[in-house]
Amino acid sequence: MPENIEPTAAFDEYEQAALNAIAAAGSAEGLEAVRIEFLGKNKGRLRDLQKLLGAADKQQRPVLGKRFNSVKTAVIQTLEQRRTELSRPKAEAVGVDITLPGTPVRLGRRHPLTQTIEEFKDIIGRFGFSVAEGPEIEDEHHNFISLNIPADHPARDPLENFYLATAETASGGPVLLRTQTSTVQIRVMQQTEPPIRVVSLGRVYRPDTIDATHCCMFHQMEGLMVGEGVTMAQLKTVLTMFASAYLGHDVPIRFRPSFFPFTEPSVEVDMLWDENWLELGGAGMVDPNVLRAVGYDPDAVSGFAFGLGIERFCMRRHQITDIRRFFENDVRFLRQF
Ligand code: FA5
Repeated sequence: MPENIEPTAAFDEYEQAALNAIAAAGSAEGLEAVRIEFLGKNKGRLRDLQKLLGAADKQQRPVLGKRFNSVKTAVIQTLEQRRTELSRPKAEAVGVDITLPGTPVRLGRRHPLTQTIEEFKDIIGRFGFSVAEGPEIEDEHHNFISLNIPADHPARDPLENFYLATAETASGGPVLLRTQTSTVQIRVMQQTEPPIRVVSLGRVYRPDTIDATHCCMFHQMEGLMVGEGVTMAQLKTVLTMFASAYLGHDVPIRFRPSFFPFTEPSVEVDMLWDENWLELGGAGMVDPNVLRAVGYDPDAVSGFAFGLGIERFCMRRHQITDIRRFFENDVRFLRQF
């Protein structure tokens, strides 16, 4: 009957459109919009079909009613299936077994020397020392003259230093990569009045022959304490406590007489490790000439200074037998710290 063709076509068209829209919905929100459009109680397209059903003649109504119910059920079921599909993790949807162990994410970490430097700052900070910085490119005044190292001293030989051929100071003097962090002592004393308690940690450069314990670039921690009545005994206490704190147990320290132009008396400092004495660095009482050169009165104040090789400490703690490991950038080595 011609009047029945229209509702049937409308049901077909509705069903097809709804199933297409459900299949095309890519998210839970998209699917909800489809549901409202096709099944929504107020304005949904299902209401239009209901109206058609209501307008159909009595004889046709049971047949059309059946069709209405089957279309409605098909759309609701397909929608529910799609909802379940969309709520499943994507990986599972494409057939990936999400219970398999994943590829581990490798986190980067700080270089062992950077870790050591941070730890040094932390330990010595607890003894009341603050951290000072100084430049790696220095003039002869800070690297030698004010450290009491005269012009004819072998330490000033060009073969013992990295002089920079293409740079000079504002007044035309030579510049070089600093050979020791002791240069920072001078800078601090020039700018500060005693009492002073500072450390400076950083890179230094020497054209030394490279071997298991020497590099031409390495790190030092300089320490300086100046004030009234500062003594060698305090120097030994600070170094003993520092070494014990870093290594985690009591570490005996010994002083051996030595010579540095900027300290008097001067010592080499050794610590006892596995029944062997191991050199930590140089130290001593700041030479009165150095105190005078920065405008201090050596009769009123005294001071001690020390310079420790940071690599050597780290090597002992971690049983690293070759200093070159630090600078080869082999991740198999670096990953261990
Ligand atoms: C000095 O550099 C003095 N400035 C230390 C000092 C400071 C003395 C303050 C008095 C007062 P020395 O050249 O000995 O001293 O070096 C100190 C430490 O640096 C050494 O004990 C060693 O641990 C480390 N060191 C020296 N040369 C190298 C190198 N080529 N490679 C790695 N570490 C080194």
